[in-house]
Amino acid sequence: MRTIIEPFRIKSVEPIRMTNRQERTSFLEKAHYNLFALDSENVIIDLLTDSGTSSMSANQWASMMRGDESYAGSPSFDRFHKAVYKLMPFTNIIPTHQGRAAEKILFSIIGKPGKYILNNTHFDTTRANIEFTGAEAIDLVIAEGKIPNLVHPFKGNMDIERLEAFIKEKGAENIPLVMLTITNNSGGGQPVSMENIKQTKYICMKYDIPLFMDACRFAENAYFIQLREPGYENVAIIDIVQEMFSYADGCTMSAKKDALVNMGGWLAMNNPEWAEAARNLLILTEGFPTYGGLAGRDLEAIATGLEEVVDQDYLHYRISSTQYLADHLTAAGIPIVRPAGGHAVYIDARSMLPHIDPLEYPGQALAVELYLNAGIRACEIGTVMFGLQMDGSEKAAPMDLVRLAIPRRVYTQSHIDYVIESLLEINQNKESLKGMKIVWQPKQLRHFSARFLPMNCECQQKENFIKAFQQEEQEETV
Ligand code: F0G
Repeated sequence: MRTIIEPFRIKSVEPIRMTNRQERTSFLEKAHYNLFALDSENVIIDLLTDSGTSSMSANQWASMMRGDESYAGSPSFDRFHKAVYKLMPFTNIIPTHQGRAAEKILFSIIGKPGKYILNNTHFDTTRANIEFTGAEAIDLVIAEGKIPNLVHPFKGNMDIERLEAFIKEKGAENIPLVMLTITNNSGGGQPVSMENIKQTKYICMKYDIPLFMDACRFAENAYFIQLREPGYENVAIIDIVQEMFSYADGCTMSAKKDALVNMGGWLAMNNPEWAEAARNLLILTEGFPTYGGLAGRDLEAIATGLEEVVDQDYLHYRISSTQYLADHLTAAGIPIVRPAGGHAVYIDARSMLPHIDPLEYPGQALAVELYLNAGIRACEIGTVMFGLQMDGSEKAAPMDLVRLAIPRRVYTQSHIDYVIESLLEINQNKESLKGMKIVWQPKQLRHFSARFLPMNCECQQKENFIKAFQQEEQEETV
């Protein structure tokens, strides 16, 4: 059969509140055109992130009931530990409440001024946690990984030559860790090949530097290896996963992605001294090492989720569904990062809307129109997110993308068809889209709270906005 169906039936449903364009216009004005400020009840299809938005299975809900909430030595920890160890056999597995908590602990131990952490591409929280210690985060993805429309099977690969050159230049003693982010989220959800993992490990061994994985989307990465890397066509996903981690010395993990749960994470490693230091920090900020910021029932849900995420049928549906969305957009001439990533499709808004200057935020303009047109919430990854400089000036980001991140097991093919139809409609009238202007922003991480106005907005609307804003400011000072 050619038709790919969801390999699950629906037992429990959550209603979606349908809205019309007029209602959405008013929600958006109230949210100051910032999609993070919308009430999620007013969103029809939420593609803001694939993180923590998975739908849990009947088995996961059932395993939560046996969660043992003992402070120490809970059997739920044993089940969690066994499930993680089966895939990622590191000698120390330390649960945390989410991925960035694992990063914070790891880099507090190894990061300090004068040190460098190398990665294919650091995710924002990884970079922020490294920089917070005074160390520098260096991205060394292959050149192909930075060209949006260039098709390459493993655009997340590490540039091995640059990796070795960097180590030689700065000295291995200043590089406590090399990381590989699988899949490479900030580079478009692109996978890393087994060959590249092995080559990275070889360089790390040569210079005696540990290799860690940022493992958030490890199962999706394994599926891409099976699909695209010669020699792996007939290898089971679980064997590919085990091989991937056999080359690593540890990992950070956000269970909110490929452990199919809504909260959780872990830090794992073989180095006993680092592990001891990590457990000491864990007790300060997360909790006792057998629960580390999670309830016993959360550990149970992760254990079951890890069994389900390496299922061949699940991964086939997951990756095919993202691919289906990407293929339809490409066929309609909408520029996207190619090939499609595992968890998301990234629209190249700068190429789609060349009449909008990057400093008038084509990504934000497209994301806003997608919400107005069909109630779909996506995320700008471009000049709004990265354009603000430390000195307060502004610079266009290398790309202006809009990420359509697909939550796991949540939406069906007809939901995806709805997203496609909306984007096709927008594409037909794309010349009418206008840029945006920021009217207020915080000093850092402005994408979460900046306030915008459309460039074509009526003067009256501007006046109302400014009045409302001044009033709010006054109320806050009172
Ligand atoms: N590493 C990668 C590659 C990620 O994508 C994320 C989160 C993290 C680390 C941090 O994990 O959220 O559990 O603390 N990515 C989410 C996203 C937020 O929307 O892409 P966390």
